[in-house]
Amino acid sequence: MMVEHMRWVLVADDRLASLAEGSMVRIVVRKKPLVFVRIDGALRAMEDRCPHQGNPLSGGWVAEGHVVCPFHRFLFDPVTGACRHGLTSNVAVHPVKEEAAGVRVGFGSTTISIFGWKLW
Ligand code: FES
Repeated sequence: MMVEHMRWVLVADDRLASLAEGSMVRIVVRKKPLVFVRIDGALRAMEDRCPHQGNPLSGGWVAEGHVVCPFHRFLFDPVTGACRHGLTSNVAVHPVKEEAAGVRVGFGSTTISIFGWKLW
């Protein structure tokens, strides 16, 4: 049976612990460039790639609770990845856990489960 599950990856980067409200930082996790942003006290993670023309979001800023792309100033919701300017494709977002041991970011994947055992 195919099942969806989440792999949690510890992000070994000290900048996250002190990331200030409204600030962003680009960190490559598992060869994937992500932009971490703190909004309303919560740490969020989005792919560092704007769905409009593929440019990095990490040079942008935060406004109205959204991440602003520095190229054409489209706003993206850091929770859903949705664009406020009508783009039909969202920025991919990843769940984040802040724990005593550090920050973990989730990567969704699909696997095959046989009698409760996940193959990968
Ligand atoms: S490249 Fe981001 S809004 Fe155009």
